[in-house]
Amino acid sequence: MSPSNRVQTLRALVQLLVGASEQVIQEWETEDQLPADHSATNVPSPELFESQRIIHGACGMCMELVEDPRVRLLEISISYAMTQALDTTVRAGVPDILAEAEPFDGISVAELSRRTGIDEQKLVRVMRVLCSGGVYEEIKPLRFTNTRYSRVFVDNPPAQAYQCLYGSTFKLIVEATEHLPAALLDPKMTNSTSPLECAFQRAHGENKTLWSCIETGDELDPVMHNAREMFPLAMIGQGQMASSALIVDYPWGSLGAATVVDVGGGVGSMCLDLAKRFPDMRFVVEDLPVSIEKARPVWDAGIPGASEKERVQLVIHNFFEKQPIKGAAVYFLRCIMHDWPDDECVAILSKLREAMGPDSRILLAEMIVHPPLGSRHLKAAPTPLPANYGRVDAVKGMHDMVMLSMFNGSERTPDQFDSIAHRAGLKLEKVWECRGPLGIAELRQL
Ligand SMILES: C[S@@+](CC[C@H](N)C(=O)[O-])C[C@H]1O[C@@H](n2cnc3c(N)ncnc32)[C@H](O)[C@@H]1O
Repeated sequence: MSPSNRVQTLRALVQLLVGASEQVIQEWETEDQLPADHSATNVPSPELFESQRIIHGACGMCMELVEDPRVRLLEISISYAMTQALDTTVRAGVPDILAEAEPFDGISVAELSRRTGIDEQKLVRVMRVLCSGGVYEEIKPLRFTNTRYSRVFVDNPPAQAYQCLYGSTFKLIVEATEHLPAALLDPKMTNSTSPLECAFQRAHGENKTLWSCIETGDELDPVMHNAREMFPLAMIGQGQMASSALIVDYPWGSLGAATVVDVGGGVGSMCLDLAKRFPDMRFVVEDLPVSIEKARPVWDAGIPGASEKERVQLVIHNFFEKQPIKGAAVYFLRCIMHDWPDDECVAILSKLREAMGPDSRILLAEMIVHPPLGSRHLKAAPTPLPANYGRVDAVKGMHDMVMLSMFNGSERTPDQFDSIAHRAGLKLEKVWECRGPLGIAELRQL
């Protein structure tokens, strides 16, 4: 970039930041005048969401213009250390302990050390690196409190489990990602599109997959036991962390007394949220045995009597086999496509197409990737931000790397969804951009 372009770009970014910040301030001022629980959905207004994206992207781009590149590279290469620090404190229960603190006083590191069993001198270092990322705050010397980030984990085992998926607590994922560079540089493996030939198998052994480990792994092996216990809980956490907007940004209400089939639905946490909001809808949650086993208590706690009243059926079903529910209004798949390479996605979608009626739709809730130069299906960011709002999309790219490591899977752009849809006799009807990391790709029959 030429020096004059640099100047223009930085000025334009500052202008964007000023406008977006004013919008946020306006929202905060209005919020202060509303009753505390006015926003039960926890989804920002469209204006606030847009401002959040602009601020995130513009701050990132400002840093790219002014930062010493060597410092940024250092930060990227060592960012896994932040993940491990967060994993340590979440696993040790620090957010819950800090939640007991008096608001402006915090809890001393000596007390935190006593309650977590972590050496005091080491714990203070762990806490301080997380303070630098905004996760905790050192409110007085050696006294810490939660921030709006760490409060997400308080009294919230699903969110804690989701966070731990990416720390070293959940070895099946972290060890697979460690093998990604070797898998990509391996002349044979690099061209493979098989879910049985990627970093996961280099790490954990031939013919194994995350799903086979969860379903049939040796219960006495602590890694397998941990996977089986934690994964379904973590999927509830994922729903909380990334999916609230799916409920409010898709016109579910217009479907009336529809049947929603949640294909590969885990314990069915998305449908449980929908069931609470739309009392006329009925649900079928389909998954492999471990998830279905764990689904019953989740539904019993969420809507007592839901299965007796036939609001939900919990069904063991392999989505590569014939779909038993014909002509449902909705076949819903959240975070399923990203676990599979294209050929397997086409196979899963083909089974659904065979079961669809003329009014059926398939809804794919995924991290829909926005290419930096834009997509006709997605709203572009204001200039000088790249069309995908820059750093805002980084989280999708990082998940994409995890999917590549685990399954030869992929987060996809709208055009990529359209391409697998066509191969299955379907078309991409519309992309629903939701106010969060996940969006919905709606497919209909061709
Ligand atoms: C990333 S999780 C998503 C779970 C759920 N859709 C959600 O969002 O909470 C993927 C799910 O696919 C399920 N799965 C994997 N292979 C499957 C298969 N062949 N048939 C049915 N479900 C499968 C897993 O058990 C797991 O629950």
